[in-house]
Amino acid sequence: MSTNALYADLSIYYDLMCTDIDYSAQSHCIQRLHQIFGNQKKQHLDLACGTGAHIRYFLNQAYISTGLDLHPAMLAQAQVRCPEADFILQDMSDFNIGTHFDLITCFLYSLHYNQGIEKLRTCFDSIYNALNPGGIFCFNWVDKYKINNKHFVKHHLTYENALFTFCSRWYYSGQGEMQALRLSIEKAHPDHTYLWQDEHPMVAMGIQELNDFLQPHFEVHLFEHDYDKIVPWDQVSGNAIFVCIKS
Ligand SMILES: C[S@@+](CC[C@H](N)C(=O)[O-])C[C@H]1O[C@@H](n2cnc3c(N)ncnc32)[C@H](O)[C@@H]1O
Repeated sequence: MSTNALYADLSIYYDLMCTDIDYSAQSHCIQRLHQIFGNQKKQHLDLACGTGAHIRYFLNQAYISTGLDLHPAMLAQAQVRCPEADFILQDMSDFNIGTHFDLITCFLYSLHYNQGIEKLRTCFDSIYNALNPGGIFCFNWVDKYKINNKHFVKHHLTYENALFTFCSRWYYSGQGEMQALRLSIEKAHPDHTYLWQDEHPMVAMGIQELNDFLQPHFEVHLFEHDYDKIVPWDQVSGNAIFVCIKS
């Protein structure tokens, strides 16, 4: 079991793992939320940007985008996909870019990659400092109290004469401030099969707790985790989209 191989040695498979994700719908939804709650300006920062799939959709809508990520192999792919964007190798837990943004995003639960609540706090401080007045920060979150350790998502596809099976699941022990994302990649050829397994430690918190945690610095609005329609969070679902306005 390795940690974060997916973003280093296995990064060539990252986009294959994400073929089921509707990056266009996610980007469009956040752009609509930005139109509603934001300052109508276009300087954009995507934290934990990965291979730049969301940034591509922001550039297409005339945003001036910067991507930040911890792993060079992910940023190298992002630079190829989005040659017009700037990319920065930094840890989002304590970043300083020296410029300000109107919209900061963090997709695919990546904010959980902060390694504990203290790191999450310094990440929010960095975000607050990097936002222009009236700027907003949008991200999605899973509630540690609602994680079902038995639930998983799996999909298969054929690529370069191999059958790939990708599987991911959340795991929370029921105690403490850390949860895990468990991932596996199986690559099956007719005569041999490779299996890689990753376990990513991530910060854990309930949605309501996180809402309270953010309140001193931000005006917070919570929405259902549905990128096709904007609906207020029902206070029950285990996933939510956070919109945080710099107050
Ligand atoms: C699940 S991927 C999401 C990538 C992209 N946002 C997407 O939606 O496809 C998580 C990303 O977080 C990055 N990452 C992990 N820890 C990080 C940290 N402390 N600071 C910045 N990026 C980090 C990884 O390198 C990886 O690219």
